[in-house]
Amino acid sequence: MKRVLFLALGLLVSLSISAKEGMWLPHLIAQLNYSEMQRMGLQISAEEIYSVNQSSLKDAIVHFNGGCTGELISDKGLLLTNHHCGLGQIQSHSTDENNYVVDGFWAQSMAEELPNQNLYAAIIQEIRDVTNDVLMGTTAEMPAEKRDSIIRSNGGMLLAKMREAYPELDFELKDFFYGNQYLLISKKIFNDVRLVGAPPKSIGKYGADTDNWMWPRHTGDFSLFRVYANADNKPADYSAENQPYQPAKHLKINIGGIEEGDFTMVYGFPGSTQQYLPSAEVANIVNDINPFRISVRDRILAIWDNKMRRDSSTQLSYVSKFARVSNSWKRWKGEILGVERTNALEVLKAEEKLFVQTCKAIPELQKDQNLVSELTDLYNKRKPIALERYAYIEVGYLGIEAFRHVLGYSKLLELAEAEDEAALKEEAERLAKRLKGFKADYDFDLDWRVAVNILPIYLEMIKTEVGEEVSELQALKHEKQIKEIRELFDEAPYFEEDFIEDLLDDPERMAKKIADDDMYELSLEMYTHFLTVLNARYRDYNLEIDALQARYVNALQRAFPKKPFYPDANSTLRVAYGRVASYQARDAVKYESQTYLEGVMEKYVPGDYEFDLPQKLIDLYERKDYGPYGQDGKLPVCFVATNHTTGGNSGSPVLNAKGELIGLNFDRAWDGVMSDMYFDPSICRNVMVDLRYVLFIIDKFGGASYLVDEMDLVTTRPDSIMEKSDAQVPETIGM
Ligand code: ARG
Ligand code: ASP
Repeated sequence: MKRVLFLALGLLVSLSISAKEGMWLPHLIAQLNYSEMQRMGLQISAEEIYSVNQSSLKDAIVHFNGGCTGELISDKGLLLTNHHCGLGQIQSHSTDENNYVVDGFWAQSMAEELPNQNLYAAIIQEIRDVTNDVLMGTTAEMPAEKRDSIIRSNGGMLLAKMREAYPELDFELKDFFYGNQYLLISKKIFNDVRLVGAPPKSIGKYGADTDNWMWPRHTGDFSLFRVYANADNKPADYSAENQPYQPAKHLKINIGGIEEGDFTMVYGFPGSTQQYLPSAEVANIVNDINPFRISVRDRILAIWDNKMRRDSSTQLSYVSKFARVSNSWKRWKGEILGVERTNALEVLKAEEKLFVQTCKAIPELQKDQNLVSELTDLYNKRKPIALERYAYIEVGYLGIEAFRHVLGYSKLLELAEAEDEAALKEEAERLAKRLKGFKADYDFDLDWRVAVNILPIYLEMIKTEVGEEVSELQALKHEKQIKEIRELFDEAPYFEEDFIEDLLDDPERMAKKIADDDMYELSLEMYTHFLTVLNARYRDYNLEIDALQARYVNALQRAFPKKPFYPDANSTLRVAYGRVASYQARDAVKYESQTYLEGVMEKYVPGDYEFDLPQKLIDLYERKDYGPYGQDGKLPVCFVATNHTTGGNSGSPVLNAKGELIGLNFDRAWDGVMSDMYFDPSICRNVMVDLRYVLFIIDKFGGASYLVDEMDLVTTRPDSIMEKSDAQVPETIGM
């Protein structure tokens, strides 16, 4: 991004920045990135990274259950991903006697590997540009609705045709650059994926929420699975007869060590970014939206934390809720600081100015010169609605647990009204089960405290026309509001001892009771207002915004034809590349790029729920028993590099110049988490576990050396054919 500014000043930028922002489409790498990657040290061909005709690295990358990435690391389908990506599965197999979350798990043979329901691994077969087919019959001038419907129908036909022609594959049609480009993605989806191994959470989640988004980091955030296929090596549902999948490609693992400046690339499925927002909307996010959402979560987290620290059973039941709520909360805070520290708004404004000037200078672009100001206008108009929308989401939906829970009773009420007895009974049974699950990790006392603290924030934020219940509450003084909210909880029937029994016995009577319950009424009214007023208006704005954003990114590409552009992340396969790099976070604070087991020990707090350690790890540390994984008497644990990553890249392989696995991506460093909107190579860093730590834990700590036996280890670093820094090579791209 800064590049544009430098070039505007007529400077040649050197690559000493040593990083390229961007999450690139693998099938376009040969065309857009390859020569630069080579200059930075890459030693394999573009075809080895992505190819349709022969096996390539892409055949070893899996989309892990749609939200994370994983990679295949043996010819027997062994899959590596993060601990936090596999935690749901690890948890689901845990019992009080065999608590794999606490103690870890290592299948001693394939027979002991644990099958999982609702878990899949997808491998991309081909990415094909179908923009012309999808846009056929559309024009830029036609009304958005008509255009949309043609696109939908073209896309639908294309998908139907492909699905019929290739029944063994799955197809997905994705739009890029706000609908300027369409890609058809074919993939194989494997549904038999079994749990193979996981370290105890004191390693896999070491540092938990305190260390989350932070550097230096000391987490062994990995878990192991295995992909199974049928006798023909094809995807199949779970069967005891299935065999380990033999992938077209699996990654070699390099334990030869890494050095500052080494080339790295990340291959995975980043979820979503917003790289082409006008500066005004970035300002809205960091000045209004993030602070608002943070302020609600501040209260929730403070209330939870207070009890979690005192009460171990609350700690158990709220630990994953806490992690979920605090994850984005902390990232939003980091975004605010990062935007400020890098002067992002000023840089973006300067880029916008350059864009406008360029548009004015090029006749075909003159009609686009007002795009930034039109977008700014729309985003600013949308802001109050966006804030009200987040008020509902944060308070009524995510914040107050009981409010979301009670929304689930509306079908029961409908069935009672319709006097459909059989269906009513069935629904009551479903709801009884649901309520049992809800109560298993629900703390009534915490929830009403959260409610009295955050519902007033919602009431104050909502300015659009609301229903009776909300407006009555809004009219009350603060103390009165609190009293009313407290009463909602005391009078709600769901938490009464006999509620489940009564629900099963006489669903009709209970339906009436729920219909009269004030909490139910209020929550439903808030939800309805959200859908019919807030979401509806938000969507109207978005239709206009998206159409303008599409024109904007298109105009940007035409204004700067020599600059390569990458589309926003959208859960499709991407490659990011950069270098292992230390960084200066702020004045006098410089971070090194590698951490060691010494650092794990420094953070150790016996008995603490975030920083406790297993005795066996301490023993190995004291004996310096690191096997082949140590280096100069020390054991590497995590490292950082300049790859541009985001949520969804968790579990992504980090590869060296030869395409060998050296790291497992799991996070970003606090100072640079604004990279979803604005990437600055000086402080944006992705965080990885060093594969040597992963192997050490499997082999030395877990005693599962038979797993290491099926991997391909390389013990020497790629020779660096390039000088460590290519600072001397001037970057030649121009506008
Ligand atoms: N920050 C990482 C990501 O966004 C890790 C999240 C899991 N860990 C946690 N403590 N919440 O996925
Ligand atoms: N921790 C994120 C994930 O789980 C990665 C990131 O946001 O950098 O995908």
